[in-house]
Amino acid sequence: MADIKSNLPRRRYDAVIVGAGGSGMRCSLQLAEAGLNVAVLSKVFPTRSHTVAAQGGIGASLGNMSEDNWYWHMFDTVKGSDYLGDQDAIEFMCRQAPNVVYELEHFGMPFDRNADGTIYQRPFGGHTANFGEKPVQRACAAADRTGHALLHTLYQRNVRARTQFFVEWMALDLVRDQAGDVVGVVALEMETGDVMILEAKATIFATGGAGRIWAASTNAFINTGDGMGMAARAGIPLEDMEFWQFHPTGVAGAGVLITEGVRGEGGILLNDKGERFMERYAPTLKDLAPRDFVSRSMDQEIKEGRGCGPNKDHVLLKLDHLGADTILKRLPSIREIALKFANVDPIKEPIPVVPTIHYQMGGIPTNYHGQVVAPKNGNHAEVINGLYAIGECACVSVHGANRLGTNSLLDLLVFGRSAGDFIVKQNLKDQAHKDLPADAADLPLSRLARIDGSSSGERVQDVANDIRKDMQAHCGVFRKQELLEAGVKKILEHDKRRLNVHVKDKSKVFNTARIEALELDNLIETAKATIISAEARQESRGAHARDDYPERDDAKWIRHSLFYSEGNRLDYKPVTMKPLTVETFQPKKRTF
Ligand code: FUM
Repeated sequence: MADIKSNLPRRRYDAVIVGAGGSGMRCSLQLAEAGLNVAVLSKVFPTRSHTVAAQGGIGASLGNMSEDNWYWHMFDTVKGSDYLGDQDAIEFMCRQAPNVVYELEHFGMPFDRNADGTIYQRPFGGHTANFGEKPVQRACAAADRTGHALLHTLYQRNVRARTQFFVEWMALDLVRDQAGDVVGVVALEMETGDVMILEAKATIFATGGAGRIWAASTNAFINTGDGMGMAARAGIPLEDMEFWQFHPTGVAGAGVLITEGVRGEGGILLNDKGERFMERYAPTLKDLAPRDFVSRSMDQEIKEGRGCGPNKDHVLLKLDHLGADTILKRLPSIREIALKFANVDPIKEPIPVVPTIHYQMGGIPTNYHGQVVAPKNGNHAEVINGLYAIGECACVSVHGANRLGTNSLLDLLVFGRSAGDFIVKQNLKDQAHKDLPADAADLPLSRLARIDGSSSGERVQDVANDIRKDMQAHCGVFRKQELLEAGVKKILEHDKRRLNVHVKDKSKVFNTARIEALELDNLIETAKATIISAEARQESRGAHARDDYPERDDAKWIRHSLFYSEGNRLDYKPVTMKPLTVETFQPKKRTF
């Protein structure tokens, strides 16, 4: 291949951030305000990033509604994680939570208010007072549009701080030099197809999740696992990918999210007998138990024939008893979603809901400064110089095997900021850019050449849809060995098929079909990591529920999985059980 360095346009930045959702823009703000030259790449206009869809709130122990503190929040998060979360990172996050929320408030975020002017907080699943005693109101909310308000607030602050946005640019691959250090990314302008190398002293992945590896998902179409794909192709492992959260309340048949905030405001789940079945499964927290618990209970009701509708395939979320005033004030978008996607008015009728894929707990392994860590010579804390990951694409790991609602917006604010702070301390302005290797763009250009050069083959959508169908069928709420093994085989077949996709009429499709073919390479890496890790973990923990191994096995499985794309290989590393300043929360049976 020709000398890429001389052929492709190049631009140099102190920092390049891939992804303009909440974590990307929180990080870019920190960097731009410190005077660094920052570029943010996004496949969509920044305020259309998937954070915009977050509804219910940001978890922080402000104590505005009743007594609360970060230590209770930490306990809930560790227990919610089914003891797989790293307790140092969890302590860091829960302690930082009030600060990052007050910062947002000062940035101009339009939170709902209490009569005394403080931020309104609602209850959310798994968040309790006094170590599980009773639900606590911890979710700082802007009606049911918290992510929307957050993203617009951060975008405006970034414009003010002169962050440079590359809108409708897709990062294709990382550039690593001979020493393995990351020195930038190769990216493609989606409209023109032009390819550029963006050199950076710090490259930060904030690419969000990969919910689009599933057939039914609350995720946006852009969530194709681009960060995971790029990391996997660059030889970086993916951590804990078997843990995917099913949100209990996706609109049946449509998958659109109905916020847990509905249950926070007093909504309840009913089976076909009109029974509030969560009272049986979680006598203390009931409908506000953590999501893994509620989703499994719903699935159980459906499996045992107590589902609703002609096919008995969903349950009902009842909120009419909250009254029109509360619904219109606190849950206006939910009413709109229910009207449009379920054809019901929740002021009068319940919403049909099913557990729907929502969030990946795993991702690119990092420490709580956002540095990407990948084991080298047995050292699990070894960092990859120049590379950071934050938000849903990262596994820090604060969510372990099951995330609590509202901890995702918190995660992206806390770790977006902490990565920014850490990078600022590196004095990048005083450092030169490292040399680009001669093969800097070989990998992405060869991927483009494969896609553009094919004269026959399968349609991208057919392969992508088969991945989604098989992930859903083989790796759902309840998993078992034979089903997973058969699923692994199918996904590995799809991995071969995606090398033979054919993009027809490239000139006529305005590059969108090429983009989908590039995204397919990322979908498949994420799907492989997920199902191979799930097949190997022979226990039930958090969101990973095995019919054939129904118990948690702490002796063998308090450890993080690491999936390597090369050879589809698994490795493991210890969970950090030691917090920063307090005592370890020892694993206990989870009851709610
Ligand atoms: O239910 C929700 O509003 C989702 C929140 C979250 O995933 O944290």
